[in-house]
Amino acid sequence: MNDTTPTNNADNAAASPTPPEIDPSRDQASEATHFGYENVSGREKVSRVMGVFSSVASQYDLMNDLMSAGMHRLWKRRMISLAAIGAGSRVLDVAAGSGDIAIGLANKMGPSGRVVLTDLNGPMLAEGARRVIDAGLLPGRADCIQADGTRLAFADNSFDCVTIAFGIRNFLDIEAGLAEFYRILKPGGQFMCLEFSRPIIAPLESLYNSYSFNIIPLIGEKVTGDRDSYQYLVESIRRFPDQKRFAKLIDKAGFELVKYDNMSAGIVALHRGYKI
Ligand SMILES: C[S@@+](CC[C@H](N)C(=O)[O-])C[C@H]1O[C@@H](n2cnc3c(N)ncnc32)[C@H](O)[C@@H]1O
Repeated sequence: MNDTTPTNNADNAAASPTPPEIDPSRDQASEATHFGYENVSGREKVSRVMGVFSSVASQYDLMNDLMSAGMHRLWKRRMISLAAIGAGSRVLDVAAGSGDIAIGLANKMGPSGRVVLTDLNGPMLAEGARRVIDAGLLPGRADCIQADGTRLAFADNSFDCVTIAFGIRNFLDIEAGLAEFYRILKPGGQFMCLEFSRPIIAPLESLYNSYSFNIIPLIGEKVTGDRDSYQYLVESIRRFPDQKRFAKLIDKAGFELVKYDNMSAGIVALHRGYKI
């Protein structure tokens, strides 16, 4: 669970010292992209991703426990333990969903810390807000804001740490998201991303593929009555860049000291980078 692999010098040589500009002439809503294995327009992708999360929101936590046999709690715990935060820190958890990461970060910071949860999906953010209230973090220690992770209405240099768990692969434009995270981090701030990745042990890969494509949509169907959302989940994981390619995207967004830890033999990876 602890295979820390810094990007090597050759990888870093391609790094740009400044974050990429967002091209205002692009109309991503009309451009072709993908939703799982289907080709769709950008507009349709955002709408269908939101449909997925609206559909699964009420059963989201239960499904996470069932699909991962509780492992998601360990992956998230490790992310929280590696967050470079403490008393008085200000943290943004993007695509916060039902709030596990945000609540763990708030507990780590204590009463003087502040965590902002953002999510584009209303029903998912409502689950997060409910959990944050139950955890006693409102008022004062947490805020919940509905927002697209690629267009965040926060000032430059405003957070000590930006986290995202299992959210970025759903973005229409991953690089625009990374550029936003870089912009709103304070110098010295830390970016952390927990995301499904690629198994690094060959025999595990076929077992994992078989479990993913045969069992996960079936569990989704039985528990939530929605097989398609879990088929999307599995396909979106395969579409997302592997550990090294994603590390390069983070590097390209301007982050330094980019590295990743494989967890559960690479089924999940935790990427980290810093705004220096
Ligand atoms: C798999 S859930 C992860 C939730 C939570 N972070 C966790 O680890 O349990 C993915 C979340 O990403 C959110 N999301 C998808 N696209 C987004 C976007 N463009 N901006 C912000 N949130 C987005 C979804 O609404 C959903 O809540």
